Amino acid sequence: MKTPFPSESEDIAVHESWFAGYAERQYALCEGDAGPMRLKEQHTRAVLGYARRMAQEEGFAPHIVRACLLAALYHDVARFAQYLRYGTFRDRDSRNHGLWGAAILKREGRLAQEDATVRRLVLTAVALHNRYALPAALPDDMACVAWTVRDADKLDILRVMDEHLSGPRPYCPTVVLGLPDTADKVSGKVLEDALQGRVASYTDLRSVNDFRVLLGTWLDDMHFACSRRLFAESPHAERLLLGLPQEGPYAAVRACLLRRLASVRQQSARPDGGA
Ligand SMILES: [Fe+2]
Repeated sequence: MKTPFPSESEDIAVHESWFAGYAERQYALCEGDAGPMRLKEQHTRAVLGYARRMAQEEGFAPHIVRACLLAALYHDVARFAQYLRYGTFRDRDSRNHGLWGAAILKREGRLAQEDATVRRLVLTAVALHNRYALPAALPDDMACVAWTVRDADKLDILRVMDEHLSGPRPYCPTVVLGLPDTADKVSGKVLEDALQGRVASYTDLRSVNDFRVLLGTWLDDMHFACSRRLFAESPHAERLLLGLPQEGPYAAVRACLLRRLASVRQQSARPDGGA
């Protein structure tokens, strides 16, 4: 039976309960600490929440809304198998979890009941959600769903990182990508990107402070007014930047990124949304 829309486009309860059952089955297979997998389930629910908010606020067409919700729910479905098989979430040391996730969805027949257009949009967004950049020639509807998942993913990564970096040291190497937490390692490229309003790259990071800056530059990588506003309003974004040293090489970039957050917040608070 095909899923009718628009009236039921936002009802993905069947998928959510399958996902919860799938996660439970994966936990049962884990002989060690299943904690990291549980964090991924929690992350998934937060990303779904952000995607739902964005899709509704941006007024997407019903089939796009449905694809956004399903892609958000399933974007990290491969994380469970990845952790069970390889004990890591690093794609470089295991497998590309975006492509793997799309393969799992096909194998499990998760989208068989969906409209063909929705199915294609979801599989593409899941497969591409973790790419550094999206292919330039992506059709508009595919780009819209992929951007929604990527923005929602980043919004919750702010929470994950803030919660971790606000906690006790030493930081978990997995979370901080093995970067040293020292004041003397500074990436000039990351600082320059941030000051120029460019999105910094993971490959240029040299320290945890650089990582804080990179997360701050994601404000300029938000693709919708809604996600941009949610980013600027995020207490996590602000706290991550406030954690940068107020003196020395990070001082200017700290002030600049905090100013940008405040400016977007002010624009969003205006009745015309800053238009
Ligand atoms: Fe992911």
